[in-house]
Formats: sequence, structure tokens, C-alpha cells
Amino acid sequence: MLADTLTIVDNRTGKKYEVPIRYGTYPKYGAAIPTSELRKIKVSDDDFGLLSYDPGYTNTESCRSAITFIDGEKGILRYRGYSIEELAEKSSFLEVAYLILNGELPAHSQLNDWNHNITHHTLIHENIKKFMEGFHHDAHPMGILISTVAALSTFYPKASQIGDGELRQKQIQRLIAKMPTIAAFAYRHRFGLPYSYPDNDLSYTGNFLSMLFKMTEVKYEPNPILERAMDVLFILHADHEQNCSTSAMRGVGSSLPDPYVCVAAAAAALYGPLHGGANEQVLRMLREIGSKDNVPEYIKRVKAGEFRLMGFGHRVYKNYDPRARILREMAPKVFEVTGKNPLLDIAIDLERVALEDDYFVERKLYPNVDFYSGIIYQAMGFPVEVFPVLFAIPRTVGWLSQWQEFLEDPDRRIARPRQLYTGSDARGYIPIDKRK
Ligand code: ACO
Repeated sequence: MLADTLTIVDNRTGKKYEVPIRYGTYPKYGAAIPTSELRKIKVSDDDFGLLSYDPGYTNTESCRSAITFIDGEKGILRYRGYSIEELAEKSSFLEVAYLILNGELPAHSQLNDWNHNITHHTLIHENIKKFMEGFHHDAHPMGILISTVAALSTFYPKASQIGDGELRQKQIQRLIAKMPTIAAFAYRHRFGLPYSYPDNDLSYTGNFLSMLFKMTEVKYEPNPILERAMDVLFILHADHEQNCSTSAMRGVGSSLPDPYVCVAAAAAALYGPLHGGANEQVLRMLREIGSKDNVPEYIKRVKAGEFRLMGFGHRVYKNYDPRARILREMAPKVFEVTGKNPLLDIAIDLERVALEDDYFVERKLYPNVDFYSGIIYQAMGFPVEVFPVLFAIPRTVGWLSQWQEFLEDPDRRIARPRQLYTGSDARGYIPIDKRK
């Protein structure tokens, strides 16, 4: 008889176990077994029971989520059921942020209120500005961002009341609103430029560009193509289900601290070169390659295992990352304004050579979002150190949305994985004068 269960036979004991199979919204969205069921599988009564071993959680569902859907084999990404291609074409970033957080696209009045609420929380306390001034002139902007977001926790003590829905919403709005301000101040700090205060007449990304690049002009007018490009980049980076930084957000959030320190922890996870730091590495790599002629030799060294091709490969996508495709198409529009980034030709050639090579084909290694984002950001005038900061701003929406979902999940528990102990068995203590 067919059933939604799995039968396991323990060959150590000959015993049979029936384990339930659970599905997502539809069976096509995946099936899983609750691994706690494995604990029933024992060789004796005092046996702890079987656990599952999964470093890097490559095959473990850590939560239920209704926010983002990815089909890595087909290269599909959807927020709340809407395709990333359609959202990137038709929506603004704040509209997408509302969708991700609330589950539905906003009606006119909801969007107006939402835009207003975000815009009116963009200023930061003058003491935070003073705090940021304490950083060394060459401090990495991501280090400044992480520390400053954590410091916000001390400015909003009520934020620790995470069970209060209204207070929670307030912190969510504050965080989304203040991230660009902190990021822009971190950027200007690096160049010794005076901080430029938010301009609430501008859009979210227009205001961000103003805080970054405004010099002596009375009013900064963002270039509409670059403003829109920034919006698209932010939409593409807004959420990506249970990646490293989001797992950090949920993991840290599971001990129930306030959202400022959770976002700081998530941003710290994003900082690494295998995650949000990858686009910075892509640019360094393209500069090192230097010319299209050097591409084959570089690929040879990657295949020899000397280093990885940055911006290639993904834990989930085993096809072209749909975000990379959108950026590849958007790049020429940006370059019409900024002038072409000469690294683009090397990137396109590198992609072509890699995608024709068996090493990459067999391992299903395709360009990920970071492969093209760095080239665009650089053409727009951003130094490479700012790239992970540009990632952290929109991803704050995803982190907060996942955190909120986690808090409301009746299944939530403190994150506390198990280990497979491989150390020594119990042994007697050796006094220091008897040790070899
Ligand atoms: N270049 C060359 N080989 C690679 C690459 C790469 N970029 N990525 C994976 N491989 C190879 C591995 O060497 C391995 O080969 P093997 O089976 O012969 O040992 C195989 O492909 C599988 O690799 P894993 O490390 O098991 O893949 P995993 O899913 O753990 O890693 C990751 C995913 C970290 C993204 C990896 O592809 C990588 O290091 N890419 C480069 C860094 C990067 O671009 N990161 C950005 C990710 S997107 C984002 O965070 C927004």
C-alpha cells in the first residue's frame, strides 16, 4: 500500500521504523522527514538514538518559510510567489520590501504610508554619528556598519520587547530606514567627507545616492537610470531564503535578543568572501586576470585547484542564477551613463570559456549574482570595500522578514545543533610532572 511515510530498517537490530513524510505547500515544493523521528532508532534502551550528520546543512530544512522560493535546478527565484524578473521590471524596492515583509503587494494607500514611515526614520541620533567618528580613517565600511547597527540596540532599549508586535514593527521600519544612512556615513567616513543628511524628498535609493555622493550642491539630483539600477540591485538582493546570513539571523534570533544585534550578526555572516564579500573578490580577480588573453590560463589554474572562480557556483543554483541574468542585461544601460567598465569584456569572456568547459559543466557551476553586481557597482563609482555594505542594505529586509516569521512560528526552538563526537574516550587526569 502506498503512503506518505518512509520505512527504515535498522540492519543492526533488524527493527523496522515508519517515519512520516512532510510536504511544503505542494509536494512539488519538496518533501522531508522530521529527523527527530530518527531518535527512536536505537540498538538498546540506553542508546541515545540515531542523529543525522549534515555539515553546512546541505540537506537539512531548518525551518518552514513562506517568503522566498528557489528552484536551483531550474534557476527560479520568487518572493511570495512573484517572479524576480517581474518584480525587478515593475516594482520599486520599497514596494518589494513591503511584499516580502507582509506577504502581499501594497495597495496605493498602503505603499504611500509605508514610504512615508520609512522616509521619516532615516535620520540617526547625533551620538551615533559621534560613535562612527571614532573609527580609524581606513576602517572597512562593513566593520563600521556591523558595529554601528549593533550599537543602535543601546539607543532603543524597548527593542528588546520583541513579543510586542507594534514595537517590533517600529524597529523593522527603523532598521530599513537607517541602514542606508549608516552605510553612507561609513562610506564618507572613509574619504574624510562631511556626512550628508537624508533628503526625504527623494526615493529610498535616490536618497541613498544623495547621502553618498552629494557634494556642495544645494540639492542632489540622482540620475534616474542609476537610481533605477540601484533599485533593481536592491530588489535582487532583498531575500534569498535560508542562506548563511539569514541562518545567522534566525540562529542568533532564536535566543530572543533585539533585532539590532541580530541584524549585526547577520551582516557579519554576510561579510565573508564566500557570501556577500564575493563580488569584491570578483573584481579583484578580474583585475588580476587583466586581459581576455589571460582567461584560458586563469581557468587552467582554477581547474588545478589553486583557487576558485569567484562569482561562480552556488549552494542552491545548479543553473544560471536568475539575478545574474537580470544584471547582465541591465549592465549596458548603466554603462551608457557611467561609461563602460573595461572589466565587463573580461567577465563575459571568462563566463563563455567557463560555461564551455567540462569542469564547470559537470559541477553545474554558473555565474551567481556577484559575478556582475561588482562590475556595475564599480562603474557607478563605488569602491570595492563598499560592495558588501550595498548588499547588507536590501538584505536587511529579508533578514527582518525571516526573523519575524521565525518569532511567529509555533515550531520555533533555540538553535542548538548536535555533533558527532570524535574526541578521546574518558581518561584519567595526568599531573603536569608526569606528562611527556
Ligand atoms: N570555482 C571552481 N570550482 C568550484 C567553485 C568555483 N567558484 N565552486 C565550487 N567549485 C567546485 C568545488 O571545488 C567542488 O569540486 P569537487 O567536487 O571536485 O571537489 C564542487 O565544485 C562543489 O563545490 P562545493 O564547495 O561543495 O559547493 P558548495 O555548495 O559547498 O559551495 C559556494 C557553494 C561557496 C558558493 C562555492 O561555489 C564558491 O566558493 N563559489 C565562489 C564564491 C562565490 O562566488 N560566492 C558567492 C555565492 S552567492 C552569494 O552569496 C550571494
